Amino acid sequence: MKITKICCIGAGYVGGPTMAVIAKNNPHIKITIVDINAERIAAWNDDDVSKLPVYEPGLADIVKETRHKNLFFSTDINTAIDESEMIFISVNTPTKTYGKGKGMASDLKHVELCARNIADIAKTDKIVVEKSTLPVRTAQAIKSILENTGNGVTFDILSNPEFLAEGTAIDDLLHPDRILIGGESEEAIDSLASIYASWVPREKILRTNLWSSELSKLTANAFLAQRISSINAISELCEHTEANVNEVAKAIGMDSRIGSKFLKASVGFGGSCFQKDILNLVYVARSYSLNEVANYWEQVIIMNDHQKRRFSDRLIKTLYNTVSGKKIGFLGWAFKKDTNDTRESAAIYVADHLVSEQAYISVYDPKVSAVKIQTDLNYLNTRTEADNLKYVESSNTPYEALKDAHAVAIMTEWDEFKTYDWVRIYKDMKKPAFIFDGRNILDKSSMETIGFEYYSIGQ
Ligand code: UDX
Ligand code: UDX
Ligand code: ADP
Repeated sequence: MKITKICCIGAGYVGGPTMAVIAKNNPHIKITIVDINAERIAAWNDDDVSKLPVYEPGLADIVKETRHKNLFFSTDINTAIDESEMIFISVNTPTKTYGKGKGMASDLKHVELCARNIADIAKTDKIVVEKSTLPVRTAQAIKSILENTGNGVTFDILSNPEFLAEGTAIDDLLHPDRILIGGESEEAIDSLASIYASWVPREKILRTNLWSSELSKLTANAFLAQRISSINAISELCEHTEANVNEVAKAIGMDSRIGSKFLKASVGFGGSCFQKDILNLVYVARSYSLNEVANYWEQVIIMNDHQKRRFSDRLIKTLYNTVSGKKIGFLGWAFKKDTNDTRESAAIYVADHLVSEQAYISVYDPKVSAVKIQTDLNYLNTRTEADNLKYVESSNTPYEALKDAHAVAIMTEWDEFKTYDWVRIYKDMKKPAFIFDGRNILDKSSMETIGFEYYSIGQ
């Protein structure tokens, strides 16, 4: 099928950047990104591109170049579905917070609503593309809904998982390691492949069956997260021996079978994908009674939770076993640098733990708003909103966040943190002044020369 119009349901971190890059490379295809969230659509349409709802280096330029030409943002979901030959489903699939599979399974209600919406509206044949990360065999559910409730038109389902990482989304989209398309109809796969082929070399476009494609996405994230939990497990051992985790990571990473990427020890991985996808994998494995498989992967999450907990425990212990009434300055709240996304960020859990010990936290993050920080804490439901406001504040500058603090906790690896005037920060802090570098970004000996007591991960 020749594609002239595309609709993407879901204007989030995945849908927005992905469609912008497809639009840039396919000027003859009209792409409409729709969302039920009117505020989000308005932000995507804002003339001031610094107000886009997603911050990604390079994204604003592509949106400026394509918007109102062949890229449109709208809340009119039905019109976009009706006129498009291809529809991407790119809605959120969070971990369920209720009922069966609570805390483990993916909540597919948004995906199902999309499928029903498409079935209702479609009057011509459509290719429906799963872009959201989904449990294995979701395509079956989508297909069943489309076929049983549709208007007799033909639907081809494709799985086309997105492997972009936040903060580098545009670069990842422009130069992907591979594009994965799973499906049953070769013709439908061809239609999607030719859209990517306008900028991705053909040999990088991989075709599989639907189920391999769905499972590959979960597996890729599980393997990546596993590397982090593995190096974090070693980091704890390093702290009890005289080994240094950075040296160990370098030494093992030079083995081409292991590879050097994704071996940075940290306060723990965050982000919307890793935890959710592994929990999902565990849930799916259990549902087939594959308990050894489930337990194996679950350990990656257990280790990550331990790493976050261990970071705050060590901070408390070092501050003479109490942080009650003490100010702790946080540098960073986002789950990684170069993004304003905070989903599952280690900072949230570490802050929550410290506040339970009555610490006062002052946060500086270059891209995360004060409102977001409170929302993240309130979402945990550990205490009242008023208490979260009382104990956690957000500062406009790093110097304000760290003034009179007993300790600095570095939660995100923002580059700018390395360039601060650490002598000034030291002077303004309570003594002894402690640094807990959850990202190993500062230089231990320079910090010690200034006067800090410096603790990092795995050293
Ligand atoms: C291993 C390490 O590779 C080597 O660096 C170290 O010095 C000693 O231990 P070795 O035990 O000789 O070397 O063989 P290796 O090729 O690593 O295989 C080990 C086992 O893993 C074999 O039984 C092999 O069949 C199996 N294997 C390996 C797999 O099942 N799948 C793979 O993808 C790779
Ligand atoms: C991840 C996958 O990389 C991407 O392919 C998939 O499409 C979505 O999930 P993302 O969550 O955006 O992307 O970020 P990623 O760079 O993978 O980092 C995830 C978390 O792991 C972050 O909290 C990061 O700080 C942490 N991390 C990463 C480490 O602690 N150490 C590392 O070596 C790498
Ligand atoms: P992701 O990281 O997967 O892109 P986001 O939460 O950033 O997830 O984006 C998903 C978007 O999907 C949200 O903006 C949400 O409003 C939208 N969405 C969810 N359900 C529907 C639906 N049924 N119809 C249209 N948009 C939806």
